[in-house]
Amino acid sequence: MAAVWNDNQPQMATGTSLSNVFPLGSRLNEHGRLEVGGCDAIELAREFGTPAYVVAEDDLRSRARAFVAAGHDAGQRDFRVVFASKAFPCTAVLELFAQEGLWCDVASGGELYLALHAGFPAERVVLHGNAKSDAELRMALRHRVGLIVIDNFDEIERLERLIAEGELTDRREGQPVLVRVTPDVRGETHEKISTGQANSKFGFAMGDAREAIARLRLVAGLSLQGLHAHIGSQLLELEPFRAAAAQLAELGGFPVLDLGGGLGVRYTSDQPAPPSIEEYVAAIVDAAHAHGMPADGRLLIEPGRALSANSCVTLYTVESVKRNVSRWVAVDGGMSDNLRPMLYGAPYEAHVADRFDGDTPCVLAGKHCESGDVIVTDALLEDPKAGDVIVTPATGAYGFAMASNYNGVTRPPVVFCREGDARVVCRRESFEDLTARDVV
Ligand SMILES: Cc1ncc(COP(=O)(O)O)c(C=O)c1O
Repeated sequence: MAAVWNDNQPQMATGTSLSNVFPLGSRLNEHGRLEVGGCDAIELAREFGTPAYVVAEDDLRSRARAFVAAGHDAGQRDFRVVFASKAFPCTAVLELFAQEGLWCDVASGGELYLALHAGFPAERVVLHGNAKSDAELRMALRHRVGLIVIDNFDEIERLERLIAEGELTDRREGQPVLVRVTPDVRGETHEKISTGQANSKFGFAMGDAREAIARLRLVAGLSLQGLHAHIGSQLLELEPFRAAAAQLAELGGFPVLDLGGGLGVRYTSDQPAPPSIEEYVAAIVDAAHAHGMPADGRLLIEPGRALSANSCVTLYTVESVKRNVSRWVAVDGGMSDNLRPMLYGAPYEAHVADRFDGDTPCVLAGKHCESGDVIVTDALLEDPKAGDVIVTPATGAYGFAMASNYNGVTRPPVVFCREGDARVVCRRESFEDLTARDVV
């Protein structure tokens, strides 16, 4: 498997260079068509229909290996890479990361179910959530997950009660827990994905964290291991991670530190390159040790988008093209398969899958009954017309996860591609699926 990307070296393709927002190994073939995982995008569209999420399997594996190797290269003996499953909660993706030895971050009973179903041993699962229910905590205790990240005082009381009721399978061992801290550190990102500020719905403020630590030490059946902070997502600077580690150190030394996820990715080729996986991991390891983490301590990180976003492209078919003030190119998907542009103005780029040299300004619109259903406001496409296959890269994080059936649109399949072979790992929904929950 090829090594991981160098951001300064765009992947070269036949005749045309292809931005590294595309999955590892993507290229334009001799017909000028996009190939992902050795598979021709136009043929994929023909065989599996559109919209479709197309994932280069080797890309996911390479990134997982790059994270693990970076920890070892940075000298961190006990280093756990925890995939934030919310980014791409598809069984095949989770299975792949479980095979690669990663851990899994889950934020609900459903995600816990998915992680266990995909083969993550419970001891490699980290449970999050600011509103965990009794049922979710019970499930975590029964499976004795690797870590429960405690978010609030109510949760401490609930756990105490559930343990007293006998929900913990082995009380002698104790359920390992971390305290989630909001260190009042703000990274440069969209306010909707910023979580480290004092007024966040997640975790304990510094003062409350001290009290939570003291209380947790008294709860029989819970084993306080350390601290957690996730300051936000799509971060392109390393300084906020260092600042978060420094803040956590104020709360004392612990054998386990989890510095969350948040490493940003490139969604369009004109965006600045984020720090590399190696730079990011080295900075985290360095910061953890500079701020009191013991040499034999365990360090966890929880990347989501940095593991999966760039592994995937979405294929659409153009249904109509019209011109008024703008040139509107309407495709067969939209906010039901990628909500991010509508939710927080996330930028994407688009191409006609067999004509990449586009320079005609277009608005790439979805098919949903909302004016805001626009995938790319400033696409540059070459002569787009009905029937063309359009590709948007970097759709492997929070697209599948936030997909919906708005307007009765069925959710797309996930197709894994590797060395020229394509296989559906999650099928397209059918119209029957739309009525599957009806009680008649
Ligand atoms: C607790 C926690 N960890 C990890 C992540 C993953 O973030 P990212 O995909 O930006 O790496 C999130 C995202 O919401 C999160 O809330």
